[in-house]
Amino acid sequence: MKIALTGKGGVGKTTISACLSQYFAGEGFNVLAVDADPDANLGLALGMSEEMIKSIIPISEMKDLVEERTNAEKGSFGTLFKMNPEVADIPDRYCQEHNGVKLLTMGTVDAGGSGCVCPEHVLLKMLMSHLVLYQKDVVVMDMEAGIEHLGRGTAQAVDAFIVVVEPGVRSIQTYNKVKTLAMDIGVKQVYVIGNKIRNNGDIAFLEEKIGKENIIGFLNYRDAISESDRNNQSPYDDPAMQADIATMGKKIQEIVQAKKK
Ligand SMILES: Nc1ncnc2c1ncn2[C@@H]1O[C@H](COP(=O)(O)OP(=O)(O)OP(=O)(O)O)[C@@H](O)[C@H]1O
Ligand SMILES: [Mg+2]
Repeated sequence: MKIALTGKGGVGKTTISACLSQYFAGEGFNVLAVDADPDANLGLALGMSEEMIKSIIPISEMKDLVEERTNAEKGSFGTLFKMNPEVADIPDRYCQEHNGVKLLTMGTVDAGGSGCVCPEHVLLKMLMSHLVLYQKDVVVMDMEAGIEHLGRGTAQAVDAFIVVVEPGVRSIQTYNKVKTLAMDIGVKQVYVIGNKIRNNGDIAFLEEKIGKENIIGFLNYRDAISESDRNNQSPYDDPAMQADIATMGKKIQEIVQAKKK
């Protein structure tokens, strides 16, 4: 099962990705959590220690690896390099494990506009494509807003896109954009998790704007969640969060399995 979480900035993508990863790991699945956001912080939300976080080098910043796999030499900008580098062993070799969740941090490339063709970018693109074919029980991707960086083939292999929204017009606008983009590249499963809910009015608002049938579930605004961020703890340590996430995790599993039949 492969799910990718996206949405407007700050809506709770990383929080929910971390919690779903821990939920599925607790259910006995082999989970690979992928931090595909250039501003990576999924490790923190997974409750990794500071030492562990410090030791994480994003794939795109592993210069030797990038060179080795693409045959590009240091500082040799503009020279030829392999467009189809070998990546199959990267997820298992370069991930960090914590609480039963394997974390892979992709990193970022200073692309300077789209269409960047540099060795780091080529490696990340291949890695992303590989991940959707990768045989792990569950892959959870925490992405930056938008899904432009997924190609047609790779996006089709993601079982469900989950857009996290808040009760507000701006994050719904992002959802609508993601949905259009997803349709364009042939992804049909796009669902919503409504986060930071404060009252029934918030739920009614989201159900009206998005349609009940597209919503996986709601997560209340809770001080314990923002406090976990302040205290550098995993939001999943909170039993109320575990209960909410379990309900959503089950639903995601049901939906994905039903569509796969
Ligand atoms: N349900 C909630 N109740 C209270 N605070 C929340 C809730 N969900 C998320 N937060 C807080 O909102 C902030 C943003 O959450 P998070 O980092 O998960 O969002 P994001 O969508 O990944 O952001 P970014 O776009 O920067 O990657 C964090 O401080 C987090 O603790
Ligand atoms: Mg995030």
